Amino acid sequence: MPSLAVTLGELQLANPILSASGTFGHGLEMEQFAPPERLGGLVSKTVTLRPRPGNPAPRIHETEAGFLNSIGLENRGLETYLAETLPEVAGADTRIFCNIGGESPEEYARLAALLDERSEIDALEINLSCPNVQGGRLPFSTDPALAERCVRAVREATSKPIFAKLSPNVSRIAELAVAVEQGGADGITAVNTLLGMQVDWRSGKPGLATVMGGYSGQGIKPVALRCAWECVQAVSIPVLGCGGIADADDVLEFLAVGCAAVQVGTASFSDPGLLGHLAADLAARLEAAGLESIAQVRGSLERHLSAK
Ligand code: FUM
Repeated sequence: MPSLAVTLGELQLANPILSASGTFGHGLEMEQFAPPERLGGLVSKTVTLRPRPGNPAPRIHETEAGFLNSIGLENRGLETYLAETLPEVAGADTRIFCNIGGESPEEYARLAALLDERSEIDALEINLSCPNVQGGRLPFSTDPALAERCVRAVREATSKPIFAKLSPNVSRIAELAVAVEQGGADGITAVNTLLGMQVDWRSGKPGLATVMGGYSGQGIKPVALRCAWECVQAVSIPVLGCGGIADADDVLEFLAVGCAAVQVGTASFSDPGLLGHLAADLAARLEAAGLESIAQVRGSLERHLSAK
């Protein structure tokens, strides 16, 4: 059986497949379809310091190749996460990543400090890139200096591994990747959703109440792959590829551009059992190709280009 184990800095994962934040509840809601022990890690929905009601409806709109969302980081806040959600999720036999969202570097740091005490959490993912809050301005993931400040504030508040989730809605994602590495991130998640919108031309009614929202799903895979590759080339910390992954071949494409692992999001909505068999599918693909480990695939694009 090919080896699927991966190492992200000091973190060992059984396989390179994680759930993407906001698409899998906190993990256990999907247990009957995708047992957590079959994943390398569960990434929680974004947790904020205070509860958030989220944006007005409609806040999901299906498109030809994915969907638009404008949830607005609805969640019950840190206190409830710590008291109710975390004790449940902690029993899962996989790595637990807690995704955090804040409105200032200080708020991110406060969240990180409070989560640092909880040994059930293996790593933090800093959501710098939600397009559905602060009027879609994406301040933390478009301004390298602010992104770096934010990550540094979190770095100083926790000894846990931290992963910065970047936005594709920038001209040069490599600059953001370098900034978060300099701020002390242990890894990067590339990428969050693309800003998009839909309108009914007859009525003029937008698909989302907020008009614009985050576009995800298979339609964004080429953009996400390009962003992930640009990050891989710019930094030496591990990159987790995210965007449009729906099967084992997609996972392997992200590994080929140099990602250390991947996150799967929107595909779980149309196939809730996908994450229950994706690691086995990956092993089968490697075996069929005569490969013994995913390390043989990782970075194959670079090897191909430099052999030319
Ligand atoms: O609107 C939302 O809750 C989306 C979050 C995100 O894309 O990070």
